[in-house]
Amino acid sequence: MNVRAVAAIVLNQVIEQGESLSQALPLAQKDINLKDKALLQMLCYGVLRTLPRLDFFCSSLINKPLKGKHRCLHFLILIGIYQLLYTRIPSHAAVGETVNGAKALKRTALKGMINGVLRNFMRKKNQLVEKADKQDQLRYCHPSWLVKRLQQAYGIEKSIEIMHENNQQAPMWLRVNKVHHTTLHYQTILKKANLEAFLTIDIENCNALRLDNAIDVNKLPGFDKGWVSVQDAAAQLAAHYLSPQKNDLILDACAAPGGKTLHTLELQPDLKQMVAVDCNEKRLLRVQENLNRLGLTATVIHGDASKSEDWWTGEQFDRILCDAPCSATGVIRRHPDIRWLRRDSDIQELVKLQKNILQSLWKILKSGGILLYATCSILPDENDLQIADFLKHTPNAKIIPLSKRSNIAKGCQLLPNEDHMDGFYYAKLQKVTY
Ligand SMILES: C[S@@+](CC[C@H](N)C(=O)[O-])C[C@H]1O[C@@H](n2cnc3c(N)ncnc32)[C@H](O)[C@@H]1O
Repeated sequence: MNVRAVAAIVLNQVIEQGESLSQALPLAQKDINLKDKALLQMLCYGVLRTLPRLDFFCSSLINKPLKGKHRCLHFLILIGIYQLLYTRIPSHAAVGETVNGAKALKRTALKGMINGVLRNFMRKKNQLVEKADKQDQLRYCHPSWLVKRLQQAYGIEKSIEIMHENNQQAPMWLRVNKVHHTTLHYQTILKKANLEAFLTIDIENCNALRLDNAIDVNKLPGFDKGWVSVQDAAAQLAAHYLSPQKNDLILDACAAPGGKTLHTLELQPDLKQMVAVDCNEKRLLRVQENLNRLGLTATVIHGDASKSEDWWTGEQFDRILCDAPCSATGVIRRHPDIRWLRRDSDIQELVKLQKNILQSLWKILKSGGILLYATCSILPDENDLQIADFLKHTPNAKIIPLSKRSNIAKGCQLLPNEDHMDGFYYAKLQKVTY
């Protein structure tokens, strides 16, 4: 199959049918070789990162938008322009292979039109780019509702910086399972396999390793034996902040696919019990798969965290991790489709859901117990404002420092690419008795 044609189908599924890239892409990559897999990923990510710009170029070059059964060809043109503008693929190959994509999509009659549009783009490139650079929306490639929210939260200059970071490629972060190797030792194992990994600056004893170029997990030494997992360093902070103690009964309330459940178990193997809850049955299967790979045990429950009365067995938890469903605006560099799939109105809905989850989990937390609230959002409504509202309405809740090392008792907002990490938010709450 022509890779450009497959990319056009994936982009059509994401943009026109609202499927997430993380669902559509792996399915499309299933039966193709490693080299083409990488090219397919590069084309899909690249087009989604620059979508409004490419749309603008395309609409400047054709008279009538391609709709309905021809819609895939619109994305094929965007893929063609993307290659000509942002990759080192020689232009004759980029144009030739893209035009052949029309045949693979059974639109042979339109090959000539695609060829004409791409050649016209090459002729008018400088002039079109200059025009696009004059429009903010085409420079930053974010939807206007999100630009507005970022500007309100961070001001104009900082929000431009954030949008710039969102358009960069994210590194691959590794979490080393200390049961098998120290992080430093695993770094040397990687070196022997010709993989250069960088150690994090030590934040909260979280020594994560960073590979600047992502690789197939099966190429990581000992991945199948559970020596190492893929997890962004910002997400790795969760288990350190949760600080699991011997004999604790711990709940991970929105657990799938299980990254933080597993890390907590790796950090503290002597828990009384680890309970992992998620409302998405399919994603819960991933939790069990990951537990099996690492040889760890947890009680996995299909349940709604906002209705704890439906699945709670009656023993209050010492510690609860609430990694709440959120806008995922902190991880746009990893999921470039998020900005086009989310709507402004989703934020209010998410804030309501997070509030219900927090209230429900608070009831099943022990007196003196700890609840760590986390999101991969950078929007204050889901983070500091959510926590301020919770504290206002919950007299037996107090916010405490995230760790022994940090004495700042407030939520911590990490922005995308700070120390190469994802955008994340953490706040630690304690249930007090009067
Ligand atoms: C940010 S992800 C969790 C990532 C996970 N903690 C990890 O580290 O791998 C949020 C999860 O919340 C789940 N979720 C959404 N609404 C929920 C609800 N009402 N109750 C329980 N889980 C929910 C989603 O299915 C999703 O798996």
